[in-house]
Amino acid sequence: MARMLNDVIALLNRLIQVDNAAIEPYKPAKARLEDSVDRAEFGAFLADHRRHVEALTIVVRNLGGEPVGHGDLRQVLLRGRVDLHGLVEAGVLIEAMRTNEAQATAVYESAASQPGIPVDVVAVLQQNLVDERRHHAWIVSRLEGLRSGPARSK
Ligand SMILES: [Fe+2]
Ligand SMILES: [Fe+2]
Repeated sequence: MARMLNDVIALLNRLIQVDNAAIEPYKPAKARLEDSVDRAEFGAFLADHRRHVEALTIVVRNLGGEPVGHGDLRQVLLRGRVDLHGLVEAGVLIEAMRTNEAQATAVYESAASQPGIPVDVVAVLQQNLVDERRHHAWIVSRLEGLRSGPARSK
């Protein structure tokens, strides 16, 4: 039983790291978007990820575990990293978030379907998973819109 509980705590801490890693690139990306709707969406996604970290942190504490802090972020390497410090267009900024959201969705899907996780914890994972799917779906649809829309002036 103790071993299983430790496994659940380790899994939740891994998810905290994935959410923290997802938060980081949203900050510079959001600041660089010109479209106010895009900026509002990115701001909402950023807030969702912060809420995910808070919810997972509470669950880890309730299980008697120690939540990972920001210092442990380097252990998680999300793919699709892009240098966001230069001047880049919206498509590049949004594309940069797509891989991270796809990965976050996959990690949550896998976590929520693991056996031996308490039902109340699964409920939290599924709530977060709904957000991750929504983030990813919005990004995919927005990228399609950008690609099929009129060519933008340079
Ligand atoms: Fe998240
Ligand atoms: Fe997300």
